[in-house]
Amino acid sequence: MTEIQRVGVVGSGLMGSGIAEVCARAGLDVLVAEVNRDATEAAKGRIAASLGRGVRSGKLTAEDRDGALERLRFTTDLGDFHDRNLVVEAVAENEQIKTEVFKAVDKVVTDQQAIFASNTSSIPIMKLGMATSRPEQVVGVHFFNPVPVLKLVELVPSLLTGEQTQTRAEAFVTEKLGKQVIRSQDRAGFVVNALLVPYLLSAIRMLESGFASPEDIDNGMVLGCAHPMGPLRLTDLIGLDTTKAIAESMYDEFKEPLYSPPPLLLRMVDAGLLGKKSGRGFHNYA
Ligand code: CAA
Repeated sequence: MTEIQRVGVVGSGLMGSGIAEVCARAGLDVLVAEVNRDATEAAKGRIAASLGRGVRSGKLTAEDRDGALERLRFTTDLGDFHDRNLVVEAVAENEQIKTEVFKAVDKVVTDQQAIFASNTSSIPIMKLGMATSRPEQVVGVHFFNPVPVLKLVELVPSLLTGEQTQTRAEAFVTEKLGKQVIRSQDRAGFVVNALLVPYLLSAIRMLESGFASPEDIDNGMVLGCAHPMGPLRLTDLIGLDTTKAIAESMYDEFKEPLYSPPPLLLRMVDAGLLGKKSGRGFHNYA
């Protein structure tokens, strides 16, 4: 069995950058695919800032940082992924875009034991697996934001994911990346978002109905329940567009009103108020 040494990350938004960073920090050769140079430059800046933060807080040495940066390369051509042993897809939470990525990497990756992982939070792994000629090698590997900080990874096999793929993916995440795995069945939202998203949507409905201010809703959960951040600030961190997409996938799957995105969330996404990444969401970040 080939050891996983060469990792490909498709997409370098908040999650893709974080996944690429932790893989490079773990000593792996990492190739990141993006759609254009602007997106690539933004990702390089994000990763450099995060590694710099690690050095300032004493978690990393300057040599660790430089080594990680040397192990990271970027491309705009998925054809460059031919020699990868593991591909982690972390593009936008959109089934069609993700399916196209899986079709494309399936065509180019030559390692017959390669693992194709998706960081999706809510799209069925089965659908992504069926876009490839090797669904037994496709598995959900769902990280949490900020990836360098949060320990959890949800491991999500589809009905067709092979035992060997599951074992190798779990060993990689725990032994190489030092994360902790929980397993979930292939159901929209998996374990964490099935619990988290109704809570975030409830906070948005509370704000929408004039029940309380954003500050009071967030302070309620930080000071009253010792959460590290309140639900509206957390939605800003995840991204309002991503929260909407996850809620819609979960609503599609279960038809439960508690997963249905409230109108305020929809209007804010239409307005480009996407949270921290756009400078404004329920709070201001300018
Ligand atoms: N990259 C690297 N390191 C980071 C970081 C980042 N983006 N953000 C924070 N850190 C590090 C800091 O360097 C700091 O390290 P030290 O303690 O060694 O100095 C530590 O994390 C704490 O950071 P701060 O002191 O700056 O800030 P904080 O204490 O307020 O913590 C936080 C910030 C880690 C984001 C914390 O508020 C938190 O954990 N919030 C909850 C996040 C959460 O719930 N995420 C899950 C979202 S759901 C998801 O991701 C899945 C999905 O599908 C939607």
